[in-house]
Amino acid sequence: MKPEDFDLIAGIVKSKSGLVLGKDKTYLVTSRLTPVARKHKLADLSALVSALRLRREGELVHDVVEAMTTNETSFFRDLKPFDAFRDVVLPYMVSSRQKQKKLRIWCAACSTGQEPYSLAILLREQGGALANWRFDIVATDLNGAVLERARSGRYTQFEVQRGMPAKLLVKYFRKVDNDWQLNPEIRSAVTFREQNLLGNIGAVGRFDVIFCRNVLIYFDPSTKERVIKSLEGVLEEDGALFLGGAESTVGIRSNLKPVKNVRGCYARADNFVTQFAPAIPQRVLNSRALV
Ligand SMILES: C[S@@+](CC[C@H](N)C(=O)[O-])C[C@H]1O[C@@H](n2cnc3c(N)ncnc32)[C@H](O)[C@@H]1O
Repeated sequence: MKPEDFDLIAGIVKSKSGLVLGKDKTYLVTSRLTPVARKHKLADLSALVSALRLRREGELVHDVVEAMTTNETSFFRDLKPFDAFRDVVLPYMVSSRQKQKKLRIWCAACSTGQEPYSLAILLREQGGALANWRFDIVATDLNGAVLERARSGRYTQFEVQRGMPAKLLVKYFRKVDNDWQLNPEIRSAVTFREQNLLGNIGAVGRFDVIFCRNVLIYFDPSTKERVIKSLEGVLEEDGALFLGGAESTVGIRSNLKPVKNVRGCYARADNFVTQFAPAIPQRVLNSRALV
């Protein structure tokens, strides 16, 4: 691929999604965009680039951006954030929202749905104590194709083996041919919709807890800052943000700071110590994975 063609594609992908494609991604661009060229009846990648030069909006651009997203995910990915949500953030939220008995959670780059469904199952597993609570889980992604898969709630054997404990698999899924499908109760606990993190995030609503994991790593520092600021804008004053293991707010101008002893969890500087830290149970503090 000619360097100027690569630059054009990388420029479009960055401006539409924030994703940065380094020069070392030429192979990836070629392998992922060849099927897009075929779908649009374009002879090859040079024809695709010529078409992009003529028209910087529309279905072709949409398909190019979608094809360049990385959708790697798994159930209860990294485990610790889910433990921290259950053992630290949830007890705090339950005690501070006794009146409303309502919690709004946003999975902001949810890919094929394993993350929001893990949360839905985790909440269901809390049983009677939260029986009269309402949990709204909104899950969004830029990529419409992964959302379609997420809505189906259907996963391969390989996908469920990656993180779903056998006990929960038999409790919440049923076998459909060679796949596993989540039961309607868990599926209906999550609302999926398309949302670009660079777009009008305010339209999604306000949230007590936001999971935005393993997407900021693909952005440059200024896009990261822009997205963190937008997330901050829709996070309740005493809300909690979970980022991925390789992500942080370090070096970013933001009021969201790491919650002491709860790896991957961020909250507003003026309340995070007082609001969350006292709620941390000793067994979580003792956990090896916590800093
Ligand atoms: C690696 S997956 C992470 C999935 C999940 N959060 C996890 O940690 O397992 C990253 C997701 O971010 C989505 N994404 C990339 N850029 C985005 C953007 N600008 N707005 C919304 N989603 C985006 C991709 O489509 C992809 O599904």
